[in-house]
Amino acid sequence: MRSYTVEKLKHMIYNTIAEADRKLTPADVEKKLARADWIDRKAVRLGIRELVSSGKLSYTYLYGRSFIEKSFRRPVRISERIVVKPPGKRYRPQSGEVTISIASGTAFGNGSHPSTYLALRALDYVLGGDYYAEEYDASYGLDVGTGTGILAIAMAMLGVERVVGLDLDPCALWEATQNVRLNNLGSRVTISDVALNSLQTPFSLIVANMAFPTLKAISGTCAEKAKRGAILILSGFKVSALAETLRAYLRNGFILIRQQIDHNWACLVFRKKGEAS
Ligand SMILES: C[S@@+](CC[C@H](N)C(=O)[O-])C[C@H]1O[C@@H](n2cnc3c(N)ncnc32)[C@H](O)[C@@H]1O
Repeated sequence: MRSYTVEKLKHMIYNTIAEADRKLTPADVEKKLARADWIDRKAVRLGIRELVSSGKLSYTYLYGRSFIEKSFRRPVRISERIVVKPPGKRYRPQSGEVTISIASGTAFGNGSHPSTYLALRALDYVLGGDYYAEEYDASYGLDVGTGTGILAIAMAMLGVERVVGLDLDPCALWEATQNVRLNNLGSRVTISDVALNSLQTPFSLIVANMAFPTLKAISGTCAEKAKRGAILILSGFKVSALAETLRAYLRNGFILIRQQIDHNWACLVFRKKGEAS
């Protein structure tokens, strides 16, 4: 057995949970870390307990199972303009800031995962920053794979007039609808389970935080649903899939305008070729 410090193990536990693409139970964390032969399960359990006592991790109990997650108990700044907070916690926004309330649940997306915060930062860049603020048509936004609804809510708060959030998971659909209400956006944000290819409206802004195979599979449909000059934000894939994702979207008439990487997760921002109409 190799020697390791308790602090290093706690760091590994925290990162395993923070970077997972789904909610993990304590047993999942033990299993993932015990693949390294120098870590024993008892030490992982102890590390989890210490991280919970120090407030860095917390247990959530959902549908009879307990999950271990990064604590989300206070407002968290995601970007210059975006702050995400649990309901019931107060935050007084500064001028130009938006505050998104997200209730805890099973759906993905409270802002703590790199794929979510990279997408939120990209939205801030496109909608709030200097790049497009003046000329950008922010009339109709689409969030494919909405989860908690966090990106759809962010779009509306940053000025997109009407937004549709799609998901196929019934829990996500319910939680996203609740979060939209919680943020008083029921008249501008619609959560739906309709298939992406059945949507009629051409969108001026599309965001999709989804796994690489799905992003690749929907590249043609995203091109069909995007207006000329529309912005497309893709997140949810690792650096290892970046080149292939890029190729799929360049082939479908998009131009790359920004690329961000964090903790080995990538986020791309494209513009659809052609002048905005
Ligand atoms: C990684 S989560 C992203 C959640 C949230 N948008 C965020 O940024 O944190 C991906 C979501 O996509 C949904 N999803 C997966 N495949 C889908 C599909 N083909 N159509 C619609 N939603 C899908 C999943 O149910 C899940 O809620």
